[in-house]
Amino acid sequence: MSGSRIGVREYRHRRRELMRLAGADAAVLLAAAPPRLRNGDTCWPYRQDSDFLYLTGFDEPQAVLALLPGRAAGQCVLFCRERDTAAERWDGGWLGPEGAVRMLGVDDAFPIADIDEILPGMLEGRARLYCHFGREAAFDAQLLAWLRRLRASHGGARAPQEMLALGHLLHELRLFKSPAERALLREAARIGMDGHRAAWAALRPGAHEYTVEAAFTGAVRAAGARPSYPPIVAAGSNACVLHYARNDAPLRSGDLLLLDAGAEWQGYASDITRTLPVGGRFGTAQRALYRLVLEAQQAALACIRPGRTWEDFHDAARTVLVEGLCALRLLEGPPRQALARGHYRRYFPHKTGHWLGLDVHDAGDYRIHGEPRVLEPGMVLTVEPGLYIPADDAGVPARYRGTGIRIEDDVAVTATGAEVLTAALPGDPDALEEALSVARRAA
Ligand code: GLY
Ligand code: MN
Ligand code: MN
Repeated sequence: MSGSRIGVREYRHRRRELMRLAGADAAVLLAAAPPRLRNGDTCWPYRQDSDFLYLTGFDEPQAVLALLPGRAAGQCVLFCRERDTAAERWDGGWLGPEGAVRMLGVDDAFPIADIDEILPGMLEGRARLYCHFGREAAFDAQLLAWLRRLRASHGGARAPQEMLALGHLLHELRLFKSPAERALLREAARIGMDGHRAAWAALRPGAHEYTVEAAFTGAVRAAGARPSYPPIVAAGSNACVLHYARNDAPLRSGDLLLLDAGAEWQGYASDITRTLPVGGRFGTAQRALYRLVLEAQQAALACIRPGRTWEDFHDAARTVLVEGLCALRLLEGPPRQALARGHYRRYFPHKTGHWLGLDVHDAGDYRIHGEPRVLEPGMVLTVEPGLYIPADDAGVPARYRGTGIRIEDDVAVTATGAEVLTAALPGDPDALEEALSVARRAA
């Protein structure tokens, strides 16, 4: 197993790049994610804000990063919790400001309790302030209070005149994955694929969707990772619910099971879907639809290379699906008109992919000046066409109704084409049946 982590040098490089983009007269402020209360004094498992993680690697709440290009006393400043023996007995070890300078490579660090005193002065004379506005109400209020304080101080100190949304600059950096990030994404993919195989071993008629979820989650946790999102384990017509989350229905022979589940490793996500026959063999109608989705995915994958656009691979998948649906008479042809009428959206209501990285639906613009983005080396995305035939669709033969199929792989754009990070997990229906049978025998 890869033990690699992102090193301090890379975090420093990211912060420097962001400062270069922001400009010498700017300041950048970014807050850690707050803990989220579930009820009483119980919080949801803490997950750091991905932007904050990207720039610091620091996973504690109650922290603010200030980037101040050119500041003589240190341009990268972190405010974080001070060490507190009594509190750490409950919460585990905190890094503290001294630890932050030592471990995170920031230039300077202060107790978060002192931020109202220290930060406004640091913003003085900066022309522009980059920030996420409107993301966290408490931080917005704090920010306005700092600016008020700055304007009120010694006869009106020079407060930043321009407030700019940080997302665009930062997310442009996050869109291009470094070699170290690609290694972590590969590892997240590997753990996710192992999780799928473990889930297949638990897949049998009479079991429940949660049996399969437990096998996936158990394997991923045993590898030291976590699910990167709540697994979608959807049997039969549940697979037509795109973000199905109940995962509590029994598995019946003759149904398909759609398993959409990924792993988060060192903050980086995989996002993988396979659709399998609960009874071990695809039925004829199921196989016809499955083949169609697979062909659509192959057509889309063939478009992933530098120079092609964000729309190209979606168009390729959509064309194959619409032609196939017309051939199976689920849509009225001819295909060109079926495409123009848009009725296919009833069966294929989503796009063919999204960026993948620290977030499952990762940061980065999909269009530039209204035009679909051109793919470039270093981008990582999912390719995930699907077909979902509602159980109550009287317009199609009964054998197709209540069937949901998606095949989802994770792909890195390389200098010459694409690297499918999840290629080791079979997608071909015969190979899938064989792998399912092997996994069950081994269980
Ligand atoms: N797992 C969510 C998605 O495929 O986008
Ligand atoms: Mn996805
Ligand atoms: Mn998915």
